[in-house]
Amino acid sequence: MHLLIPAAGSGRRMGSNRNKLLLQVRSRPIIAWTLLAAQASDEISWIGIISQPIDWQDFKKIIADLQLTKPVELIQGGSTRQESVYNGLQSLPANAKQVLIHDGARCLATPDLLNRCAEAIRQCPGLIAAVPVKDTIKVVDENGIIQSTPERSQLWAAQTPQGFGVKLLKQCHAEGVAQGWEVTDDAALFEKSGYQVQIVQGEETNLKVTTPQDLAIAEFIFKTRFGEE
Ligand code: CTP
Ligand code: MG
Repeated sequence: MHLLIPAAGSGRRMGSNRNKLLLQVRSRPIIAWTLLAAQASDEISWIGIISQPIDWQDFKKIIADLQLTKPVELIQGGSTRQESVYNGLQSLPANAKQVLIHDGARCLATPDLLNRCAEAIRQCPGLIAAVPVKDTIKVVDENGIIQSTPERSQLWAAQTPQGFGVKLLKQCHAEGVAQGWEVTDDAALFEKSGYQVQIVQGEETNLKVTTPQDLAIAEFIFKTRFGEE
């Protein structure tokens, strides 16, 4: 299974002056943890890291230090996540029939989750890892007034990996460009194009490291998983 890792962001909400994926959690850069999970997944055979050339020197050093045995390619990122994934899709080897897309910032996803998604994508056109939401969610207008309260049992929080048939996803991305759709995940392009996206049970600990608080939470989850350093 081919895996694309969007890693071309700037980490604005982290308030850091460099790509947040180069920040350390448990003595390793965030992207290193994501790569280790991909390396440990029996299903993943090829890894494409979508990233900005300014980070390539750092990324190459991280890849070399990890001594990964799977082929890894660096692919030029875009100015939005959507553009980055678009570039990644164009750079997939021609034999890639399905693809998993997993955010570099979700460094706590387990190899088991990657394996389950890889197995499931052989049986359906599109899927995402997701977990049921625990909070009651409110729809709020620009004045801070609640407009509605969607039924919680129908709400799921989207994670990555997300998996798709390559041909179909390329088609949805092209449609997105043509129609000017701006979305925050690939499933949304699939949905807008009228294709079904299946849920795969995600992991409570599979958080996206976004703010400085998330660094501390990620540190705690690793400690729980692997013990004291
Ligand atoms: N990403 C990407 N290309 C972009 C923007 C984001 O590949 N132009 C990647 C990020 O590197 C990250 C994933 O998409 O792994 C999810 O994005 P997010 O968590 O929003 O990361 P950033 O965009 O870096 O953070 P922020 O939005 O706070 O600037
Ligand atoms: Mg972002």
